[in-house]
Amino acid sequence: MRLFFALWPDADTKNQLAGVAAKLRLANLSRLVPADNFHLTLAFVGEVPSSRVPPLLAIGAMQRASRLRISFDATDYWAKSQVVVAAAQKMPLALLKLWEQLHKDLALTVQPHPRAHVTLARKVAQAPVLQAMSPVAWSTSSFGLYRSETGGGQSAYTVVDTWPLLDETEIPLKTR
Ligand code: 2AM
Repeated sequence: MRLFFALWPDADTKNQLAGVAAKLRLANLSRLVPADNFHLTLAFVGEVPSSRVPPLLAIGAMQRASRLRISFDATDYWAKSQVVVAAAQKMPLALLKLWEQLHKDLALTVQPHPRAHVTLARKVAQAPVLQAMSPVAWSTSSFGLYRSETGGGQSAYTVVDTWPLLDETEIPLKTR
């Protein structure tokens, strides 16, 4: 099964991001991501046997990260992956810490400058003209492990488990 850790937006954030996606002017063959599939990938685990699920759940449960507030303030076209994303120009420190800790615990290599993003459209073969976007503020108090199933069309995502992000005061001083 294909697994990844991610943040999933609440209904209001999802709707605001859907509004941004609806304004994109994309060529015909591009595919808008359905709003229910919007997510922010924290760590991509990839294809693993089901025996890997318990250790992954243990890694999720041992995180001690604080609640996040992310401002998505730019749309961007990433030619290499042929996607249009809503991105946060400023990476919140708490998100960076969670990102790094998960990669460390999963023994995954961290890319040098991760950019917090939500993919809005895929298979975008040509650079679209992108307009400035009104910032979308996303506050989140949980993260989760998700499963991706790719069929013929869009990916289907299901939640495996979620864990709370904590209030600052609940986090041990040495890990803050
Ligand atoms: P992204 O759209 O946020 O970049 C689930 O498959 C998610 O994992 C995808 O939506 C994608 O997130 C990310 N992903 C897929 N394949 C990946 C890969 N090979 N390396 C890193 N992230 C990947």
